[in-house]
Amino acid sequence: MQLRAITPSFAAEVSGVELRKPLDAATVRAIDEAMDKYAVLVFRGQPLTEAEQVALARHFGPLDAGLRKATGAPTRFGYEELIDIGNVALDGEVAQTSDQKLVGQLANQLWHSDSSFQDLPVKYSMLSAVTVPAEGGETEWCDLRAAWDELPAETKRLVEGRSARHFAFHSRILLGDDKYNEAQLKRFPPVERPLVHVHPGSGRKVLFPSAHIDRVSGMSVPEGRLLIAELLEHATQPRFVYRHTWRAGDYVMWDNRATLHRGRRYDLRLRRDLRRTTTLER
Ligand SMILES: [Fe+2]
Repeated sequence: MQLRAITPSFAAEVSGVELRKPLDAATVRAIDEAMDKYAVLVFRGQPLTEAEQVALARHFGPLDAGLRKATGAPTRFGYEELIDIGNVALDGEVAQTSDQKLVGQLANQLWHSDSSFQDLPVKYSMLSAVTVPAEGGETEWCDLRAAWDELPAETKRLVEGRSARHFAFHSRILLGDDKYNEAQLKRFPPVERPLVHVHPGSGRKVLFPSAHIDRVSGMSVPEGRLLIAELLEHATQPRFVYRHTWRAGDYVMWDNRATLHRGRRYDLRLRRDLRRTTTLER
C-alpha cells in the first residue's frame, strides 16, 4: 500500500489496495494507521457493489444508519447501513427540488461532522461515488487538528473547557426544513460535546465546531452561535481545506473526530449518486 500526501497537513491518496476484495488484517491495520495520521484517505478507481461497500466498511467497526433511524425514511438500497448521498429519488430518477429528501441532502452543504448529534460516537465515514455531475458537487474536508494548533492563544483560552450542544435537526431547520414531529425530535435529543477534544489515534488536540451546534456552554444563544461561526471561519480557511473533485469509482474515507466536511453546490437537475457508510467507535 502506497500513500501520497495531498496537502501539507492532512489527506493522502492511497494506491496498491483493491477494496472490493476482503482486506487482510495487515492492510486494515495499515489503513487505520494512515487514517490516524492523515484523517482523509482517497482511493481512485474502486467501483463497489452495495454488498462490497458494506463488507468493506465492516472491517473498520460496527456500522451506523445515521439520521434515518429518526426520520424512518425509506431507502432505495438493499442494506440499512448504506446512507444515500445525492439526489436520486426512491424510484431511481433524479429527485424533484420539492422532494423532502433533497432538503435533508442540502444540509450536507454546511460544514459538519457526521452524526455528532447522536450519543453513540461515530468514527469513520466512507463515500463511494457511483454517478457524479461533470461539474460541481465536490466535497471539502478541513483539518481540525491544524485548526486547533493555529488558533490564536486568546481564542484557545476562550473555548477550552467549554462544551457545545449538537442537535440533529439544527442545520436542517436553518434551511427551512422544520416539519419534524415530536417522536422524531425525541429520537435524537441534543447532546453535549467538548468544543476541544483529544483525537484518540494521534493524541493531538482537535477544535470541534459544526453546523450541528446550536448552543455553547456558559454563553447566551447568540454569543454561542457567533463563536461557532467564528471558529468555522477559522477552521475552513483554504490552508486547512482539501477539496475533492469526484470521479465515478472514487472511494474516500475520513475520520469524523478530526475533520469537518461539506458538499458543494451542483446543478440539482444532474444526477449525483454517492453512498456512505459510517462506523461507530468500538
Ligand atoms: Fe456528512
